[in-house]
Parts: sequence; structure tokens; C-alpha cells
Amino acid sequence: MLREWLQHLMTPCPPYLRRLGYLKQLIGMQARHRRCREAWAPHLQHTRDMILAAADACSSHDKVVILGSGLLLDVPVEELSERFKTVELVDILHMPQVRHAVSGLANVRLLTRDITGVVEPLSRGDIPQPDIADLGVNGASLVVSCNILSQLGILPEQLSPGISDRLVAAHLDALAGLGGTVCLITETSHRLMEGETEVEKSAPLDGNDIPDSLKMRRQCWDWDFAPAPERHPRYDLIHTVEGFIRSGNAET
Ligand SMILES: C[S@@+](CC[C@H](N)C(=O)[O-])C[C@H]1O[C@@H](n2cnc3c(N)ncnc32)[C@H](O)[C@@H]1O
Repeated sequence: MLREWLQHLMTPCPPYLRRLGYLKQLIGMQARHRRCREAWAPHLQHTRDMILAAADACSSHDKVVILGSGLLLDVPVEELSERFKTVELVDILHMPQVRHAVSGLANVRLLTRDITGVVEPLSRGDIPQPDIADLGVNGASLVVSCNILSQLGILPEQLSPGISDRLVAAHLDALAGLGGTVCLITETSHRLMEGETEVEKSAPLDGNDIPDSLKMRRQCWDWDFAPAPERHPRYDLIHTVEGFIRSGNAET
């Protein structure tokens, strides 16, 4: 706790993102990864494998864009930098250790961007209407939505109840409209389990369905997100993760 508190104090971050909890979320994810490293390993490897399979499916290798690069836990950044001319890692906030990790990779760029476009206006008290999101991915041979979809609405929802659902829908519409290869990896259900017994189930995509046009080359796996007693003394929190690769004909 003290370590995370100090990290929160010392890490450079725009004040509005700090206030809304984006820095706290990233620090929390890093701490949980330290505690649940073994349980998370298969999910992280599945995600990396899926991204590399999507890279194999591309007809050109000019640029790959990773949306939600986060701490690079599930992003095979070195392999991508060998396979593509340019790698763009997009996140609302890049932590210092991520900047350090990619500093030796000349063709890797960190782009700090809110891919919903609503976070800064919300922080000023405006209530923006999420439209089809501008993902800012022009010229990409491959766009990866990397375990970010279910996260997009969590903090905005606190300021504008009901917005989460529309942010998820806007992101899916934007991905479906891209011309290049798209790889979508996302949680699609959360289950509290006591051994083999399901105690509770919830839907992290707010009732949104993934468009049929993206639902290709599906893979599905469980992410042992919070094994007991991480979140609950007896229950494990398991996320179902689904990944899709839709090959494209053109660059986005
Ligand atoms: C669960 S993490 C994804 C895991 C990440 N790929 C990794 O390997 O660490 C979700 C990421 O989405 C980012 N994020 C959340 N809302 C965002 C937004 N509106 N725009 C851009 N990034 C956002 C968070 O900062 C976080 O890094």
C-alpha cells in the first residue's frame, strides 16, 4: 500500500487524469499483476499469441497500432517492432517504466491519447455525446484493441451515468469501420466462482454485442483475474476473454 501511495505521489500525470483515477488504475493493475503473476500468465500469453497471429494475417506490415498498451504486460512489443516498420502504442497515460522499456526500440512510438474523446470534456463538467470514436489509426496495417474495451467506460461512468454503454458501442463501431486487419481482444463475462460452482455472473460490455463483421477467427479463454482471497475470501473472479482477428484488404 505504501509503495503504491508513493508511486501515485511521484509519477508525473496530468492533474485531471490523476483526479479521475487513471493513474490509480494503472498502479493498481501493476500491483495486482505482482500479486497474481502466476494466475495471469496464461491470459497474457494468449493475448500475445493472438496479436502475433493477427500480425501474420496482415498483407502489409507498415504500421501496427495497439490501443490500450498499458503496462505492456500482454503486448509482444519487441516482436512487433521486428515485423512492422512502425509500432504505435496508444494509451491515455504511459507510465515511466513503459517509456523506459521502449526507449531502445527506434520504430516504436508512444502516443498519449484518449481514444473516446470524452475524458477531458467530462473532467470540465461537460456531458459529451460519444459518437463513432476517432481512433486516430490512419495508415495502419493492423489495429489491435488490446483488453481495453471493457475499461473505456469505467471511470467516465462515475461522472456521467449511462455513458459507458455508449463508449463501448462507439469503439466497436469504429473498429468495424476500419479497412485494415483488426484484432479485438476483450473480456466478455465476469464470473465469481466457488470451486466449480458459479456464484454470480456479470457482463462487462454493458449489453453490447460484438458486431458480426468482427467476429472472425474467434478464440476464447479464461483469465484467472483474482483468485481467492485476492478479491473475496472464498470466491475466484474469472474473466472470460474473447479474441477475434478480422483480416483486412486495405490499410485503415
Ligand atoms: C486493462 S489495461 C490493458 C492491458 C494492457 N494491454 C497491458 O498489457 O498492460 C487497459 C488500458 O486502457 C487504458 N485506457 C482506459 N481508458 C482509455 C481511453 N479512454 N483512451 C486510451 N486508453 C485508455 C488504461 O490506461 C489501461 O492502460
